[in-house]
Amino acid sequence: MKKSLDEHAERFSDSAADYDEQQYSPEYRAAADLVVAHADPEAADTVLDLGTGTGAIAFGVADDAGRVIGRDISDGMLEEARTKAADRGVETVEFGAGRFRAPAVDADIDIVTSNFAMHHLGDEEKREAISAIAALEPRRIVLGDVMFFGAPNPDEPFYNPEVDDPATAGVLADAFTDEGYAITAVEMVAEQVGVLVAEPNR
Ligand SMILES: C[S@@+](CC[C@H](N)C(=O)[O-])C[C@H]1O[C@@H](n2cnc3c(N)ncnc32)[C@H](O)[C@@H]1O
Repeated sequence: MKKSLDEHAERFSDSAADYDEQQYSPEYRAAADLVVAHADPEAADTVLDLGTGTGAIAFGVADDAGRVIGRDISDGMLEEARTKAADRGVETVEFGAGRFRAPAVDADIDIVTSNFAMHHLGDEEKREAISAIAALEPRRIVLGDVMFFGAPNPDEPFYNPEVDDPATAGVLADAFTDEGYAITAVEMVAEQVGVLVAEPNR
């Protein structure tokens, strides 16, 4: 059975202190680098990073953006991110509680990023998440995640069916286009890992 949001939050909080050492598979790293590269913020931009974890993407864009807002459901991950910000003296990033379908932001958002987080939601929940992101009217959305470009192979190491529920790249692209966003770039990192860039179709 899939985990609830609270169970995901607890699971990530339990491993938050070790997260940065555990997560650097080449595919994860490639997706993270591509998300940062495609986000490409300008100095006046506010970037919202959803499922920010310990802030890999938030810190990756912080040098170029005016402000970065990281949101996550895991108190432990957010605490790690805040500690990193303090240790590095980065004052333009802020981390707080929020989830894909209720990001809890009151700022104008220029760019939304997310890396390796949305696949914890079921497909219908991903649609709701993409709808909530589109409602913020960012000029760019950059989603890196576990996503299927071919037939899903449960023996591959990129996801755990007990806790993850990845979508096909097509399901994600449909959700974006249904919300008035066009897919402007597709990066296939591996058969089950990719990055989609979406921009308003108007
Ligand atoms: C694998 S980590 C990725 C963290 C970071 N984006 C990175 O690239 O290193 C997934 C993160 O997504 C968060 N998460 C899972 N479901 C979420 C949801 N519905 N809303 C917000 N964050 C969520 C988890 O708490 C965790 O911190």
